[in-house]
Amino acid sequence: MKEKSVFHEIKNQISVCDLYTEIIRKILNKKGIEDETLTRAIDNIKNSLSLIADCASSLREVRLQELSLANLIAGAIEICKAYKDITFVDEIPAATVIRADKNKFTSALVNIIKNAIEAGATEVKIYPRGNDILIENNGEPIPAEIREKIFTDGFTTKENGSGLGLMLTKKSLEEQGFNLSLDAATDVTIFNISHR
Ligand SMILES: Nc1ncnc2c1ncn2[C@@H]1O[C@H](COP(=O)(O)OP(=O)(O)OP(=O)(O)O)[C@@H](O)[C@H]1O
Ligand SMILES: [Mg+2]
Repeated sequence: MKEKSVFHEIKNQISVCDLYTEIIRKILNKKGIEDETLTRAIDNIKNSLSLIADCASSLREVRLQELSLANLIAGAIEICKAYKDITFVDEIPAATVIRADKNKFTSALVNIIKNAIEAGATEVKIYPRGNDILIENNGEPIPAEIREKIFTDGFTTKENGSGLGLMLTKKSLEEQGFNLSLDAATDVTIFNISHR
C-alpha cells in the first residue's frame, strides 16, 4: 500500500515537471529564442522524466490485459528513437495480441533496445519465432565469457552502468508470465521473450 502511494506521488510530480518543460518550450518559441543547447537540455530532462516514470512503475503491482503487441513495440520504438534514431525492423504480425502490463512490458522492450543502442547497434529487428518474440541487434556481440552473467544483479561492463537493467527486465517479464533469455544458437545478440 505504501509503495502504491509512493508510485502515485512520483507520477504526479513527474507530470508537473513535464508540464513545466512544455511551458519553457512554449515561452522560448514565443520569444523566438532558438538555442540548441537549451533544446537539447529540455529533451534530456524529458527523457530522464520518462526513465524515472519507468522506475516508479516497478513499485506498483502488475496489471495484465490483452494488448496489441504491434502497438507496444511501436510505443517502445518511439521512446528509443529519442535516445538515438537507428533503424527498426518490426516483423511482428499486426494482429498479434499478448497478455501483459502495458507500462512494464514497454519498459522491458525499451531496456533491451537501449542496451542494443549502447552496444553500437545501427539496426534492431523484432520478429516472431513460434510464440516467441525475438529482438535482434547488429551491435558489438556479447563476449562468450559474459553471456552467462548479463542477467545478474549489478553486472555491467559500462563505465556509468548500474547493471540493473536486464536483471529488473527479466524479473518484470517473469511477473507478467514471460521468460527472458539470450538465444544460445548464435553469436549474434538475440534476446528471446517466451511465454512461461
Ligand atoms: N544488446 C547488447 N549487446 C551487447 N552487450 C549487451 C547487450 N545487452 C546487455 N549487454 C551486456 O550486459 C551488461 C548488463 O546489461 P544491463 O542492462 O543489465 O546493465 P547496463 O546496461 O550495464 O546498466 P544499466 O543498469 O544502465 O542498464 C551490459 O553492461 C553489457 O555488457
Ligand atoms: Mg542496460
